Amino acid sequence: AGTGKFFVGGNWKCNGTKDSISKLVTELNSAKLEDDVDIVVAPPFVYIDQVKSSLTDRIEISAQNAWVGKGGAFTGEISVEQLKDIGCKWVIHGHSERRHVIGEDSQFIGKKSAYALTQGLKVIACIGEKLEEREAGKTFDVCYEQLKAFADNVPSWDDVVIAYEPVWAIGTGKVASPQQAQEVHVAVREWLSKNVSAEVASQTRIIYGGSVNGGNSAELAKQEDIDGFLVGGASLKGPEFASICNSVT
Ligand code: G3P
Repeated sequence: AGTGKFFVGGNWKCNGTKDSISKLVTELNSAKLEDDVDIVVAPPFVYIDQVKSSLTDRIEISAQNAWVGKGGAFTGEISVEQLKDIGCKWVIHGHSERRHVIGEDSQFIGKKSAYALTQGLKVIACIGEKLEEREAGKTFDVCYEQLKAFADNVPSWDDVVIAYEPVWAIGTGKVASPQQAQEVHVAVREWLSKNVSAEVASQTRIIYGGSVNGGNSAELAKQEDIDGFLVGGASLKGPEFASICNSVT
């Protein structure tokens, strides 16, 4: 870790029930959390209100998605304004599941991020390559293309955290090695320096996601350019998520 305050996000994805979420919130409320880490959790939309009214203010709330513009006749969508209304501070955009399962492209993701930022929601901007892209030596190209779409759209990087999540590491138990993650984080920082500004490159937090757990987070966190984590599966277990948050170095 090296840039800015350590940041850990828990992406609960499409998991949970009122009961399981109430248990998770109780665990998080009683966890001892280090001071020097920003902590955010992203519940499914339908439980955000429940989490907001029961979770400690120490932890901020993110949505897992948001509509690209003002609300209205967009069946099944949730607007940025509605998310702010119920107390969300963040939204995740560009997650690999939305890119590759739902089919969102980089331009749409860039536009959604721009809208969220102009309305005052902070953005966790996700990038990452698939296994075949890594094997074909295209890791950096894929990440740069995804980064460019954010850069072309966002009005400022002040409220953006970049999450590098190699698709092959997500939900597979195959975590990237600290060296593999560090290598891409450095490349992302260099890209920002060259294409945005040296200031943005040195101030933007770049967090890692993909099979992070209580057993591997400390080693990853030691890397100079790993400024935190985006955690899926392990964020559904309060004590383990707390230990990942506390791996801040
Ligand atoms: O957004 C976090 C995520 O994609 C990583 O998931 O389950 O591999 O930690 P997981």
